[in-house]
Amino acid sequence: MEVKVAILDDNITGPPFFKAEHGLSVLLEVEGRRFLWDCGLSDLAVYNARLLGIDLRTIERIGISHGHMDHAGGLAAVLGASGPKKVHMHPCALEPRYMVAGNFKLFVGITLRREALESMSDGLELSAGPVEVMPGVGLTGEVPRVTDFEGPEPSLFLLKDGELIPDPFVDDQALVVDTPDGAIVLTGCAHSGLVNILKHVMEKHGRIRAVVGGTHLGMGAPLSKVEATMDFLDEVLPDKIIVNHCTGSVVMSRMLDRFKDRFIPGHTGLLATL
Ligand SMILES: [Fe+2]
Ligand SMILES: [Fe+2]
Repeated sequence: MEVKVAILDDNITGPPFFKAEHGLSVLLEVEGRRFLWDCGLSDLAVYNARLLGIDLRTIERIGISHGHMDHAGGLAAVLGASGPKKVHMHPCALEPRYMVAGNFKLFVGITLRREALESMSDGLELSAGPVEVMPGVGLTGEVPRVTDFEGPEPSLFLLKDGELIPDPFVDDQALVVDTPDGAIVLTGCAHSGLVNILKHVMEKHGRIRAVVGGTHLGMGAPLSKVEATMDFLDEVLPDKIIVNHCTGSVVMSRMLDRFKDRFIPGHTGLLATL
């Protein structure tokens, strides 16, 4: 089964002329059918898609991994280029989110109102559970927390009933392609924990064939979490690991050392067959 990805938005630029920002957008192609996973922070996914010669009108649907601006901020620009498409996300993705750093309280949620998203898209599909979005391709829905080293992040908050609470990220999910050789897993930021996500996917699909996306190991994650995650990846040993976005260059280079040719550093403009 032929599965390809094109990275349209990422923190690192690839070939000349591509642009980068703190964001993620990955075009998934399965047997010629296209799905867009996240839309980046601004309109760069549209710009980089144009450079790659990808016509966004050919995507069937869009999925948003969780309610952070660096994954959904580009939604209006993408829908402008793609035309109305169905947009999938967890209902809690629309709740207001903040990053608190010292005296700063930054709004980091989705700026578009629900009504605006509904009018721009071909329908907003809100679901907390698993959903099939194309044949053999599905969203995981909520990810159970089973590890003891992947907990809440101290700077990220959710506004609930007028109060800031540590963000539980119930909305954070992954995209999974079911193939005869195992599951291909696309993450957003992996706020649920990369190992929690992979364990959840393995319960249903068995083997993990490839992992693509953000890991959140580069945002001040404790070294013990980085090591435990890499140990788990070593145990599971996917054929390809393409991590990027919030993984950070230090962890990416450690992964390159450890996983050698199984590891591909992600960047905008990257085209890969998995
Ligand atoms: Fe995030
Ligand atoms: Fe992110």
